[in-house]
Amino acid sequence: MLAGKHILLIIGGGIAAFKALDLIRRLRERGALVTPVLTRAGEEFVTPLSVSALAGSKVYRDLFDLGDEAEMGHIQLSRVADLVLVAPATADLMAKMAVGLANDLASTLLLATDTPVMIAPAMNVRMWEHAATQRNLATLRQDGISVVGPNEGDMACGEYGPGRMAEPMEIVAAVEERLVDGPLSGKRVLVTSGPTHEPIDPVRYIANRSSGAQGKAIAASLAAMGAQVTFVTGPADTPPPAGVTVVRVQTAAQMLDAVTQSLPADAAVFAAAVADWRVEGASDRKLKKTKDGLPSLSFAENPDILKTVSGMGADRPKLVVGFAAETDDVFANATAKRQRKGCDWIVANDVSPETEIMGGSENAVTLITADGSEVWPRMDKTAVARNLAARIADALAQ
Ligand code: CTP
Repeated sequence: MLAGKHILLIIGGGIAAFKALDLIRRLRERGALVTPVLTRAGEEFVTPLSVSALAGSKVYRDLFDLGDEAEMGHIQLSRVADLVLVAPATADLMAKMAVGLANDLASTLLLATDTPVMIAPAMNVRMWEHAATQRNLATLRQDGISVVGPNEGDMACGEYGPGRMAEPMEIVAAVEERLVDGPLSGKRVLVTSGPTHEPIDPVRYIANRSSGAQGKAIAASLAAMGAQVTFVTGPADTPPPAGVTVVRVQTAAQMLDAVTQSLPADAAVFAAAVADWRVEGASDRKLKKTKDGLPSLSFAENPDILKTVSGMGADRPKLVVGFAAETDDVFANATAKRQRKGCDWIVANDVSPETEIMGGSENAVTLITADGSEVWPRMDKTAVARNLAARIADALAQ
């Protein structure tokens, strides 16, 4: 519920602006107060009258409207809110935010605000994938801005791919997660999850069976406790949770890049099943059957992301948590792994086939810290996630 929460909603100019009308309704149904700001371009897609009627509030449009300044100055307007939400966030608005331009009401509010900001990007797939937009996105994330979506699908322009604005209910879920006052409010936590895919050629790859379920549950529990979560995920079967910033990657090298770009963070949880090796010199053309026999693959070692982050200096998160999947000598192997990787905690589990943990809904873990080990009873993966998130909250509060 969002009872009494004040949301400043900036509606950018894109075809997805029509979804902002439904978003306003959904936010208000949950008790939020919505103050809308409509950009010039936004007005081309939705009318100020419909926005203000649905919001039950005046719609702010112009920086130089003296009447508005007398009523509520733009600095004040940017600060009264609990959250500034930009939906749709166009490529243009994202670029302005990334460089700190302030040449209209929306961009001025975004530069003047000291409250949390969330964006729901929406644009053509090529624009989204353009290096400039991806650079701006990385900058915005580093500035602590939460990002919801975009989703993949058919676009109004007739193309297909990522760029569709997240659905109003997904945005509402993200807003609820962000505004929850919990023990992790104001903390940034990074979670890696899922498998990685290491290409052999453009159509084949090496992968593993990780479903991403445990990483997803951990990210959701951390977000539910108020943390601002960046979820770096390989191509997992389980869709990412709502209310977190999702960064999708394929390979271990891309995961390391995404992780470094998401720092600084207060804590980092490495739940991903990262491939230890990649195919050296993966072919950029499909390998063909030949009369000369079978192709041979040689491997190169992937970067160890957990070890790299654990060994960082100033950028090292205060708490670094790794996972260990073991089939025997769980305690001894996981303790040695904690030392080797240089992380603070290891969440160890026994994945021997008879435990039916791999691919199952339950987990039995041993938490290994500098102070010793704790054997947790077998429980649901969501309960493991909640307990771990609570322990992380305790550790960050010290
Ligand atoms: N990890 C990582 N980057 C890698 C490999 C692993 O970040 N290239 C992280 C995983 O996310 C996990 C921990 O390191 O937190 C697991 O370590 P790993 O050495 O891969 O152990 P296991 O997979 O348990 O297997 P093994 O002991 O057989 O190496």
